[in-house]
Amino acid sequence: MRAVLLRHPGGPDALRVEQVPEPVPEPGQSLIDVTLTGVNFDDLDQRAGAHPHLPLPAILGVEAAGRRRADGRRVVALLRQGGGYAEVVAAPDAHTVEIPTGLADAQALGLFEQGGTAYGALVLAGRLRPGESVAVTAAAGGVGHLAVQLAVALGASPVIGLASTPAKRRFVTGLGADAALGPADPDLPARLRAATGGVGVDLVVDSVGGTVARAALAALAPFGRLVCLGWRPTAAPDRARPATGVGDPAGSGALPGGEAGIIALSTAELAHGSIGCAGFWMRHVVDRRALLCDVADRLFALAAQGRLTVHVDRTVPLADVGAAHAAVAARTTTGKVLIDVRREG
Ligand SMILES: NC(=O)c1ccc[n+]([C@@H]2O[C@H](COP(=O)([O-])OP(=O)(O)OC[C@H]3O[C@@H](n4cnc5c(N)ncnc54)[C@H](OP(=O)(O)O)[C@@H]3O)[C@@H](O)[C@H]2O)c1
Repeated sequence: MRAVLLRHPGGPDALRVEQVPEPVPEPGQSLIDVTLTGVNFDDLDQRAGAHPHLPLPAILGVEAAGRRRADGRRVVALLRQGGGYAEVVAAPDAHTVEIPTGLADAQALGLFEQGGTAYGALVLAGRLRPGESVAVTAAAGGVGHLAVQLAVALGASPVIGLASTPAKRRFVTGLGADAALGPADPDLPARLRAATGGVGVDLVVDSVGGTVARAALAALAPFGRLVCLGWRPTAAPDRARPATGVGDPAGSGALPGGEAGIIALSTAELAHGSIGCAGFWMRHVVDRRALLCDVADRLFALAAQGRLTVHVDRTVPLADVGAAHAAVAARTTTGKVLIDVRREG
């Protein structure tokens, strides 16, 4: 089969299409003939070498949609061990769900991992209640554009998206956000407060960290919460970077401080502001089969009602996965970046 292999950490050109043997499913796994897979931000960090324990050569890619070979059913799967950038994957049955009739593979793929993350941040960790205000960082991105729509669908108001360019901010308001702000605005705390009528934000979903997270924390209303989904590297993920290993439990290689990156919070800050800080990792949904199915059902139902749509930025063949990584790293994408594994380059 054809697959994109990473033999050594590096830039986008470290990703090369090669012929490799099909995977052999272990007990509890099934083969899927893949139609679509996708790029997730963490793939960029893996490619750049931020996860030093990744066995190489590796096939990256943590999600796949296609047909289960055993019964021909359309399914979508999460692939914790990677392997998604390939024509065939061996997916854990416990991490696979059937795609409802009428839902396109692209929608199911975008909803399962990135939509599940948005749901986890807003509902499971963020405990969002209808009528609360929500702010989403990287709101035009894969997770972010679904978090904005989901917040609106769950009755949040106002919903505020952060995105770095005017075009992205127009995209975010087109998704239903009440306001879109620039993350680099020096007056971001005041602008966030103003967007909530001076009250402050009830729930922030943050995946950037650094000064953006600091500004969002400063704009929280009493009893407001910030949910951390991750953080962007402070170095461009288009070149190999070692993991810092210090204050970086996930080994992302992110350095503390700056526009992005990990920030430190004290319990005194939380107490003085009557604010909360939580984290969310999709793995803890994936590990719970009943919860994973429940989240997928809710997201697929909202999509069927037309209240949640995966916006596809581009669909590339396997040969162009490196270029797709470069586009995500350059912050030029909006919504989901898909890989059509059957398309010849
Ligand atoms: N916790 C979990 O379980 C989980 C699961 C999935 C994803 N995540 C995290 O959620 C975040 C979003 O992932 P995604 O796959 O949807 O990616 P994405 O948001 O589509 O990533 C691209 C966007 O990130 C923003 N960005 C901010 N700082 C950046 C930087 N230094 N370099 C590059 N981009 C930067 C850019 O938006 P602007 O230009 O508008 O700022 C860019 O367009 C990531 O941090 C990822 O690790 C967490």
